[in-house]
Amino acid sequence: MNTPILDRLKKLKRDNNISFHTPGHKGKNTLINWGDYIPHIDTTEIFGTDNLHDPKGIIKESQELAAKAFGAKETLYSINGTTGGIYIALGTVTKPGDKVLIQRDSHRSIYNGIILNRLNVEYIYPNYNEKYKILTGIDPEAIESKLKRDKDIKVVALVYPNYYGICSHIEKIAEIVHKYNRILLVDEAHGSHFAFSDKLPISALKAGADITIQSTHKTLPSFTQTSMVHVGTDRVNINKLKTISSLYQSTSPSYLFMLSLEIARAYMEGEGSLRLDKTINILCESIKTLQNIERVHVFTGDKEDKTIYDKDITKILFRLEGMAGTRVNEILREDYNIFLEMADYYYALALVSLMNEKGDFKKLIRSMENIAQKEPFTKIEDININLITPKNVLPIYEAFYSNKKIIDLNESVGKVSASFITPYPPGIPIICPGEEITKELEEQIRFLLGKNIEIIGLIGYNKEKIEVVD
Ligand SMILES: Cc1ncc(COP(=O)(O)O)c(C=O)c1O
Repeated sequence: MNTPILDRLKKLKRDNNISFHTPGHKGKNTLINWGDYIPHIDTTEIFGTDNLHDPKGIIKESQELAAKAFGAKETLYSINGTTGGIYIALGTVTKPGDKVLIQRDSHRSIYNGIILNRLNVEYIYPNYNEKYKILTGIDPEAIESKLKRDKDIKVVALVYPNYYGICSHIEKIAEIVHKYNRILLVDEAHGSHFAFSDKLPISALKAGADITIQSTHKTLPSFTQTSMVHVGTDRVNINKLKTISSLYQSTSPSYLFMLSLEIARAYMEGEGSLRLDKTINILCESIKTLQNIERVHVFTGDKEDKTIYDKDITKILFRLEGMAGTRVNEILREDYNIFLEMADYYYALALVSLMNEKGDFKKLIRSMENIAQKEPFTKIEDININLITPKNVLPIYEAFYSNKKIIDLNESVGKVSASFITPYPPGIPIICPGEEITKELEEQIRFLLGKNIEIIGLIGYNKEKIEVVD
């Protein structure tokens, strides 16, 4: 029997690794034992169930309960993750050809949504903290000055929190966006848990966002691919939301997924919130212990930096002196069976959810103590990870759908890119379709390749080619 996926998943189950990554359920049951229900509850639209595309019964009721729990006027289940939720949300609040102000360090799904909905973009850049080598939040004043100058911007689309758990001053931003009568869309993929503890940053809905999209599966106990689109204000047309949702969601939405969203919500209304608060207390103690380990530094914020308005503590962002974050990640995985969410040149990031247990933190601390004692110092270069501002030549969707040709990277300077060039992690495109490839960008690509950073979008065995507009 040839079953490569099953074989690997069985091994993963046997290995019983410690999970500091998504999904937020961390392999544990909450209100029900899923083993008792799968596969017989994997049903479809039959008598007595409901239809996600026109909910009138149990799905309607379940979504209404979710709206109440998360503080929304209306909630829509997305069984195609936040990726699908973002396509739906962008399509709901725009018309093709509209201009959207987006955060340059947006996730790929925002860029895909821009292409699918044929939108024009204007960028707002995150700030860069040189001391800590981190991309931080967005200046509310910078948004105000863009909105004041450019009457064509219809929607402001931000990511909150960012990949490192850094939060912009979202309340102030919502106030400004509404002062100029525009719509605030928030990619809150990493913030579903904010609604359930006052020890966490404010949720985007509470801060006044018009529409937010949350990957419930990332930080709460639901299955991968399950997300919610929440509407916060009357500025969003609910009928349009439902119509657009049908464009991007399967006509056979999974009942397992929808149930998993319901279970996550129901759990968080009771035991889950208490467990979250307990986990946060353990987490605070664990961070203190980690910080006391020689060579280990945990980033918890920078009071001097006004663009770090808040920091989600459940994303432990840490580094080890004398070792790249990517290497720390590798050692934790290979020698200690601890799997992190991501790592970059400087930092490693452990994503904590309420389902992590005390033992997980103890193991992380012990492992870091060992690594800090045992592993030699290596040279860490002083590199600038700030985003380079490229020159936009064509709208993203025009370049994306243009005639293309593949050329060598070393012949690409001055040409217009036809694809996204995206280093992972964290998945922020450094070049978008329609942008000119400058010498500086070409050198940055070579530098990242030299550091063994994975870059999606380049072509060829050695990633030596790039697709440009013909
Ligand atoms: C900021 C951000 N937005 C959107 C997404 C897409 O979320 P999903 O995996 O739920 O489709 C991700 C996924 O990693 C993300 O990090």
